[in-house]
Amino acid sequence: QEDLFKNVVSHAKEYGFIFQSSEVYDGLSAVYDYAQNGVELKKNIREYWWKSMVQMHENIVGLDAAILMHPTTWKASGHVDAFNDPLIDNKDSKKRYRADVLIEDYAEKLNQKAEKEIEKAAARFGESFDREQYTTTNPRVMEYLAKNREILERMGRSLGSGDLQDVKALIEELEIADPDTGSRNWTDVKQFNLMFGTKLGASAENAMDLYLRPETAQGIFVNFLNVQKSGRMKIPFGIAQTGKAFRNEIVARQFIFRMREFEQMEMQFFVKPGTEMEWYEYWKTTRLSWHLSLGLGKQHYRFHDHEKLAHYANAAADIEFNFPFGFKELEGIHSRTDFDLKAHEQYSGKKLQYFDTEENKNYTPYVVETSVGLDRMFLAVFSNSLKEETLEDGSVRTVLQLPSVLAPTKAAVLPLVKKDGLPEIARSIIEDLKWDFNMAYDEKDAVGRRYRRQDALGTPFCITVDHQTLEDKTVTIRHRDSMKQDRVDISALRGIIENEVSM
Ligand code: GAP
Repeated sequence: QEDLFKNVVSHAKEYGFIFQSSEVYDGLSAVYDYAQNGVELKKNIREYWWKSMVQMHENIVGLDAAILMHPTTWKASGHVDAFNDPLIDNKDSKKRYRADVLIEDYAEKLNQKAEKEIEKAAARFGESFDREQYTTTNPRVMEYLAKNREILERMGRSLGSGDLQDVKALIEELEIADPDTGSRNWTDVKQFNLMFGTKLGASAENAMDLYLRPETAQGIFVNFLNVQKSGRMKIPFGIAQTGKAFRNEIVARQFIFRMREFEQMEMQFFVKPGTEMEWYEYWKTTRLSWHLSLGLGKQHYRFHDHEKLAHYANAAADIEFNFPFGFKELEGIHSRTDFDLKAHEQYSGKKLQYFDTEENKNYTPYVVETSVGLDRMFLAVFSNSLKEETLEDGSVRTVLQLPSVLAPTKAAVLPLVKKDGLPEIARSIIEDLKWDFNMAYDEKDAVGRRYRRQDALGTPFCITVDHQTLEDKTVTIRHRDSMKQDRVDISALRGIIENEVSM
């Protein structure tokens, strides 16, 4: 698993997906740049989300709110007072960690131990293995899982009540050590606000203190009535948005999993009070199906229902994904009640209510939100797709088995040799197809090496132009995953590609 993670990071760099920000200056920690292939993959994930949320739903519309917002927004939303993480210093190494992350990591290890036991048993019993029954009767598995739950519950309770000494006691009791140095010499736990501050205005005296938004959601809440009225939206309806968010995260590890500048894809769904639990369940199911539609494998997802709720929520669940470092949050689905709209009403003095024509009355809608990190989606898709395969001849190939719909380049066109008019035909194929698909041209190296390069980039098709093409206008089309090659007419290419890569 650790090796896989290292491979993911180095593959992302070597093949032009992700670079460390400001690398020439030795980088800025937990900030990353998306390179030529990464930016395409990221754009395709965003588009896949946007289509399914906005284009496919008559009652969901889009928005692109500004990153900078009036500072009172963050008073109202609770982020000034409550957007804190418990922070713990290591006396020896002077390193800081998020206490809750350390505890969660510890708890996850117990989960993994349980999983190992289950896998061992599954291998022993074969076909007749009943996972559910084993999980609920085997004493060792049950002990691991119960301990995991107990730890998370205790942490949730302490954080909920703001009792940081409890959090510290838990770290000491579990003998959690510094992940980098192994030492257990912790000092006190403190609260740390995660928002980045900045200033608006030229002179120091008159400048206004602003924050970079820590979530995109607030841009939606403050625009709720504008969108509802100008779009004549009827409840239930949603507003969707993708965009940058910023958090001064304390732990900077795990690559693009936890960044200081990242992108969210959020949708706030406004509903009639009293119906929010129905919609909460609806969106949990709908969002999980969206993830499953990418075909990464059902076994890599699970729900985690929250005991510890954020300051705005009355119910919350994560969709967790099996990243190379274990199951971690990929998306949050939260029932946010009328907390945000009411708070903005109170702080702005403006009414943010909906007039329900059927009921003939005004009310403040309740909100169910779905919030997924685009960068986390990227990491989920990318790490899950990176495979090393041993071929029949014993050689090893690296292949990035991305869902074709998300692949940065859909097809590469390769002239077998750099002469005899083959490059010209290859280029004319690209000219024809580039209006519909992202195409690549490559004439360098032997064709086998070019195939391998496209495999590593996740390109679903390689189209090879050879001498037979000159005679009968056919080419070979090679499929990334099966490596199977078919001979087809040039005129059939569009249909074949379209069939596999369209959303
Ligand atoms: N509006 C609700 C909200 O922001 P959240 O659980 O704090 O909820 C939602 O964040 C999602 O945003 C997470 O599930 C995760 O995918 C992503 N996310 C949060 N912090 C992140 C970070 N530091 N780096 C990358 N993604 C992050």
